[in-house]
Amino acid sequence: DDPLADLHTTDLSDLAIEADQQPRADVGTGTVQIGTGLSRIDALAKVTGRARYAAEHPADDLLYGWVVNTAAARGRITSIDASRALALTGVVDVLTHENRPKMRSLDLFYKDMTAPAGSPFKPLHDDEVHYSGQPVALVVARSLELARHAARLVQVRVETQPHETSMLAHRDRSHEPKSLKAGYSPPPKPRGAADAHWEDASIRVDTESYAGVEHHNPMEMHASTVIVGKDGHLTVYDKTQGSQNSRWVISRVFGLPARKVTVRNPFVGGAFGSGLRPQYQLLLATMAALHLKQSVRVMLTRQQMFTFGHRPETWQRVRLASDGEGRLTSVIHEALAETSRKEDYVEVVVNWSGQLYHCENVRLDYRLVALDQYSPIDMRAPGAAHGVHALEVAMDELSYAAGLDPLELRLRNYADRDSAQDLPFSTKALRECYAQGAERFGWSRRPRQPRSRREGDEWVGWGMATGTWDAMQMFARARAVLHANGQLVVESAATDIGTGTYTVMTQIAAAALGLPMEQVTFRLGDSTLPVAPIEGGSSHVTTVGSAVEGACEKIQRELWKRARHHVDGFAKVKFEDVEFSNGHLNARTGGLSVPLEQLVRLKGEDQIEAKYLLLPNLLKQKKYVRAVHSAVFCEVRVDEELGTVRVTRVVSAVAAGRIINPVTARSQVIGGVVWGISQALLEETLSDHALGRFMNHNLGEYHVAVNADVGEIDVLFVEEDDRIVSRLGAKGVGEIGIVGVAAAISNAIFHATGRRLRSTPMTPDKVM
Ligand code: MOS
Repeated sequence: DDPLADLHTTDLSDLAIEADQQPRADVGTGTVQIGTGLSRIDALAKVTGRARYAAEHPADDLLYGWVVNTAAARGRITSIDASRALALTGVVDVLTHENRPKMRSLDLFYKDMTAPAGSPFKPLHDDEVHYSGQPVALVVARSLELARHAARLVQVRVETQPHETSMLAHRDRSHEPKSLKAGYSPPPKPRGAADAHWEDASIRVDTESYAGVEHHNPMEMHASTVIVGKDGHLTVYDKTQGSQNSRWVISRVFGLPARKVTVRNPFVGGAFGSGLRPQYQLLLATMAALHLKQSVRVMLTRQQMFTFGHRPETWQRVRLASDGEGRLTSVIHEALAETSRKEDYVEVVVNWSGQLYHCENVRLDYRLVALDQYSPIDMRAPGAAHGVHALEVAMDELSYAAGLDPLELRLRNYADRDSAQDLPFSTKALRECYAQGAERFGWSRRPRQPRSRREGDEWVGWGMATGTWDAMQMFARARAVLHANGQLVVESAATDIGTGTYTVMTQIAAAALGLPMEQVTFRLGDSTLPVAPIEGGSSHVTTVGSAVEGACEKIQRELWKRARHHVDGFAKVKFEDVEFSNGHLNARTGGLSVPLEQLVRLKGEDQIEAKYLLLPNLLKQKKYVRAVHSAVFCEVRVDEELGTVRVTRVVSAVAAGRIINPVTARSQVIGGVVWGISQALLEETLSDHALGRFMNHNLGEYHVAVNADVGEIDVLFVEEDDRIVSRLGAKGVGEIGIVGVAAAISNAIFHATGRRLRSTPMTPDKVM
């Protein structure tokens, strides 16, 4: 019996027809509210294969590109011999720096919307080799298999030069970052006298930690399908977190008018930051399609997913001192991170340490070491995942030095106001996170002493940590059209990387106009839609969600105006006194009600359209520090003989403003906790510095947490409503899920075994 027989005989052609449609909710949700828990409306499309990813879009006469990467870490290409590849029937071309079509060469054109200071990498630009894994040729053939085979026949000779890939070996030439990157603030100037206080303190800790390189490894590989239309219009399906960012770069690099390029990303199979910048396969596929005037697809392999951005390796030293009551008297946090020779990639690593707790004496320092490496790129709470880790492990150590419970130490240093900028928080329910998280976890039953509980072969330990992330808002536009048949279509060039964007935006619109979910379509993932930011920084709900609500409010007001002027009884009803439900506009008192359909048709039209531009209220926002908080509690079981750590229980209590959809928000935090477990115990890309190259570039050797690694995860949201961050009251949820998790695990391992592990990942060799 063939267990796959069913699969072979299933006719999937029906499903494929809908591939390009935006997902829509099943019938029967009824009226929904902000706060209603709803499952993802794209779920069925994804699990049935109906959702098409970047490398799955068909095109007539499609050509397949296969990337040839160099092994050398630095040098010059002296020759590329593609004759054996070109001799094969079906191989169409081999593009290299020598024969590629003319492209713009200025950095300016290659800079995408999230590029840091410096010179972006330009594939097939010249003969220079900047890093191991650099793409040096693109083989284009009539089939994928042929392209792959031919790629192995291309001979690339490189005259190598000495390379430097080890950050720690070259730390003596670190430099201060120069960067204008959005969302990055350099460390604030020192305040007080942190060093003097630390020197004099009797209760103090001095910790060092190192975090290795990590790679994003989303399920979907980076890929671009460039479809050349009859009129020369390019439709590009790209794996990206921002269709307009990709469109912006290719139209500039190739000198194409914006209207001649459409980038689409209706479905994205995860990204974790790897799609914040266009990756090189987009430029290669576009280059080939323009050159050959034929549609081209380039998909990277899992191994090639290790040949562009990564989370940088980071070394940190945290020194803390406290008085006899456990009040912090000194915080010194220094970090060193790698970047490429070409760009100063930066992330906020140390700043959180001047913000999370109250302390008068703070010195923060962040420096970079430039290496022969591709530029790092944001990954899952960039900076915070490791910066807060180092701080929170040091806080745990200080709690033992001060003879206090770790949670009590944090409460004694609670910051009601941000001391770095001397500003209030917009909202901050971290105290409630501590209280409710501790209660749910049973923290009060924790024995004080490490090594006090053993069950079978394992030591059991409990640890906790604080998490924080910025609550950001960008700018965005949205367009909403209410049709007379009761269908509402809302659009913005947003992205859904698996986070629930389709669902939540649909919900916000449906709630505003009192429509069931199935009558609302939210269109995203297309560069021709109204402007939206790249999906990143956990800011899509605060930004795009606010624009969606704004557009829907304009429609609400138009409907209300029409009712006042044309419907009996409504003349004196104020806007504040109407509500929308079951496809009707109702006055809250007096039982007045009118169907939306009637109002839409009043002027002989069959639709009402509204556009909204969401601009953050910077004047108001800058008077506050805006952040999301969490308290993470966890239980580990450690087998000292095997060096294994099992994370059996995690409670994450999150304060992230108003929660739009508790189902998708909870999934976001669960996902974040899983990545925290992964960061703590598994993830690291190891280099062979003699070769200057990442060695474990596949999922067999680069480990991520799988189901067997994950115990019980309990997520709770504490009440918050933040109208300073967004009109919805939401602050954004996603990245907060990972922050603090690895520290809580490290602290629990100490509690279990008495062994202090600060560096990640805490693999068995370190645990034993
Ligand atoms: Mo996220 S690292 O902002 O995609």
